[in-house]
Amino acid sequence: MSTHSLPDYTLPAEQVPLVEACELDFGERDELKARIAQRLKRLGATLIAHYYVDGDIQDLAEETGGYVSDSLAMARFGRDCDSDTLIVSGVRFMGETAKILSPQKQVFMPTLQAECSLDLGCPPDEFAEFIAQHPDRTVVVYANTSAQVKALSDWVVTSSCALEIVSHLKDQGEKILWAPDQHLGRYIQSQTQADMLLWRGACVVHEEFKSQALIDLCKVYPDAAVLVHPESPTAVIELADAVGSTSAIIKAAHDLPNNIFIVATDRGIFHKLRQLNPGKRFIEAPTAGDGATCRSCAHCPWMAMNELRTLDRLLDDSSYRAQNEIHVDADLGIRAKLPLDRMLAFQQR
Ligand code: 13P
Ligand code: SF4
Repeated sequence: MSTHSLPDYTLPAEQVPLVEACELDFGERDELKARIAQRLKRLGATLIAHYYVDGDIQDLAEETGGYVSDSLAMARFGRDCDSDTLIVSGVRFMGETAKILSPQKQVFMPTLQAECSLDLGCPPDEFAEFIAQHPDRTVVVYANTSAQVKALSDWVVTSSCALEIVSHLKDQGEKILWAPDQHLGRYIQSQTQADMLLWRGACVVHEEFKSQALIDLCKVYPDAAVLVHPESPTAVIELADAVGSTSAIIKAAHDLPNNIFIVATDRGIFHKLRQLNPGKRFIEAPTAGDGATCRSCAHCPWMAMNELRTLDRLLDDSSYRAQNEIHVDADLGIRAKLPLDRMLAFQQR
């Protein structure tokens, strides 16, 4: 494995937005939720949310016939559901994936400013040059990328299926060029022993988890199980009782016998973890400790842009809606769909 001589594509802290939480009291939240549910119905729209967004938006998705899940299942649900109008509450690559898979559907997001540091840290032109330097390698990219980067790749994967797909490629004797998340890439390499050349991107949220502070916290809670998303640094992954995608973390919290869990992923997931496991206790893995530079502190600043008020505005205001519709060039969409279809077909085998 090698990260080659690539520059570091981790987003500098000053480019990570600081998002102030919009405080709403219970009454305002209930009122907004009721209005959003009515407006979704009037528009015939289906709400698809990620586990990291506001818990009320997750609940609304489920209560109105939509869906809340990890990024892989969001893609599948958006493609398979009957609705012609999708509201994707998450980050931009999730909305773009829904559009690529269903070009005939209209896909909107509460705000198109909801980016992802992995996507921003993989500029298509530079990535195309990297690929051109390694024509002998199969290009595998994480779903957290732009349509342009997907269109340059052979396979798209999410953290739910990356291990199986890379193992399969290794068994076929293929050498891999992997982008953009270096930590996930290193984890997959350690599990599969595949020959992988890694792009040097990182998630600004997961990269903040600190191994020494986690060791200290485990001493305070010796009976706790540690659940880790594989976008975290290797030293944090090595302390995990279970490593996996958001849905794998939720499954592990249910299946493991422990009553206390220390969780290294975005704190938005605590909503579903607590809903499904009322008797269990969930504690955030530390982002503090020596050398902390935390700006996002276990909550993705772009996921945080998905607010009830913004969602309400999207459904109410047609000009705001027009500004926040996902468009993907038809030809680009066809090229980006190939590796996505490959992933979904592999998953369905
Ligand atoms: P999942 O695919 O596990 O939902 O993760 C998406 C993501 O952006 C994690 O930071
Ligand atoms: Fe991207 Fe990290 Fe936010 Fe996930 S948590 S959307 S990987 S920046």
